Amino acid sequence: MTETTTQPAGAAEDTPLNIRPILHYTAKNTWLNDPNGLVWHQGIYHLFYQNNPFDNVWGNMSWGHATSTDLLHWTEHPVAIACDEEEDVFSGSIVVDHGNTSGFGTAKDPALVAIYTSAFKEGSVHHGTQAQSLAFSTDAGMTWSKYAGNPVLGRDSAHFRDPKVFRYEGPTGSCWVMVAVEAQHQQVVLYRSANLRNWEYLSTFGPANASGGEWECPDLFPLPVDGNPDNIKWILVVNINPGAVAGGSGGQYFVGDFDGVQFTADSDSLVPADADGTTDLRRCLWLDWGRDYYAAVSFSNAPGNRRIMIGWMNNWDYANTLPTSPWRSGMSLAREVELATVDGLPRLVQRPVLPLDCGEPARTILDLELHDSLLQLPDAMPGSAQLIEAEILPGTARTVAFRLLGASGGSTATVLSFDADTSRLTLDRRNSGNTAFHDKFASAESAAVKLDDGLLRLRVIVDQCSVEVFAQGGRVVLSDLVFPLAGNLGTDVCVEGGTAIVRKLAVTALS
Ligand code: FRU
Repeated sequence: MTETTTQPAGAAEDTPLNIRPILHYTAKNTWLNDPNGLVWHQGIYHLFYQNNPFDNVWGNMSWGHATSTDLLHWTEHPVAIACDEEEDVFSGSIVVDHGNTSGFGTAKDPALVAIYTSAFKEGSVHHGTQAQSLAFSTDAGMTWSKYAGNPVLGRDSAHFRDPKVFRYEGPTGSCWVMVAVEAQHQQVVLYRSANLRNWEYLSTFGPANASGGEWECPDLFPLPVDGNPDNIKWILVVNINPGAVAGGSGGQYFVGDFDGVQFTADSDSLVPADADGTTDLRRCLWLDWGRDYYAAVSFSNAPGNRRIMIGWMNNWDYANTLPTSPWRSGMSLAREVELATVDGLPRLVQRPVLPLDCGEPARTILDLELHDSLLQLPDAMPGSAQLIEAEILPGTARTVAFRLLGASGGSTATVLSFDADTSRLTLDRRNSGNTAFHDKFASAESAAVKLDDGLLRLRVIVDQCSVEVFAQGGRVVLSDLVFPLAGNLGTDVCVEGGTAIVRKLAVTALS
């Protein structure tokens, strides 16, 4: 294996290149993008991912592999499914073939079967097309063989990719269902199969809502509304690049029903185009309102019926230029997603998967009145991530702002602020440190937030070079990468224009 690293743009600035997150997965020396083949098997979570085994920029796409028992501590393994002279191995999913429907395993020892996109290269007779292929593992996911009969499903299309396969049990019977995309037509296409090798077309969904870029990495899964097993809705996740609400890549979702053939979105999750043909992206449903949560997909078989998603913490606008080395790019924290009734409608709420015991907060504040003032909080600890949990009544204040990863004297910081006039929460990294490595990086992203009985509720995870904000119990999420200058670890809260009451504020170091 040759290993080369490029000099990242912006490296001249004072950002440590080894600013590696503590709680987020990164590959040791290489590039990664989309999470692939998220599967739980024999007590282990497997995270496969788009990986360039030879470099820290996109290319030579293969499936990297890591495992974990808690979704926080990951062990990297050798490349699982490698590119070759005929194909790059693009995104896809993995199922445990319990019934040995594919014949790759046995009824006693079911195979893991990966369904991935072959992006065919010049060396292949299929050159110019993308089609779906299989690989299988009979040693619990550690080594993989490509199926000799590949590809198993093509459409004579150059942009047919990202198959997510799951087991469907319903009134029409039990079968494998695949959702994939016709990326440039902004369509999700659905197929079914009895044996993972032969596929039958079912239906097409889209274009709908955000459609100003390629649709990629879809997912489809059921969730009970408010935990009620008698009220199941289906969620169709569609990642889009470019054309997401904060610019570049992002993930939208639709709430609706799936009858084994067709996904039908509820009318309240569809946003009709305006008279001029444009769609108000702020009215669409987004997994994340920040810049850096893309290609998010879920484990279809996580234990305890939990629906756990992981996204790539990056954005194609600038992905290849992030100022880190030798690795580049990481995953988001795993997130547990549920459906809850929000303003009368079923909507996703998300919770980050954190250590079960986060330890004692470094500082806890209860019932403190802040009138046009600045409250210093404990610095982020070198070598630790930081969890900030806050319940604040903005009261008469115009803004309540957290300044994260800041310099002493306030010259740079990532600012998370709530504006009482607009009721919007904004994550602003324009002055966060090194932003110069790409002209699209400096940005501020915001989302509407409805206070709960006047209360702003925040859970913020700051991990070296990322900020993930879960507001109002996870109804609104904002995630951004940031590259603070060396040694900038300061945290404070600033209240302006009136009096706010801090009901509860706890800052905890997570290592
Ligand atoms: C999304 C994506 C997928 C594709 C993969 C290639 O980020 O473009 O559509 O399968 O990345 O690496």
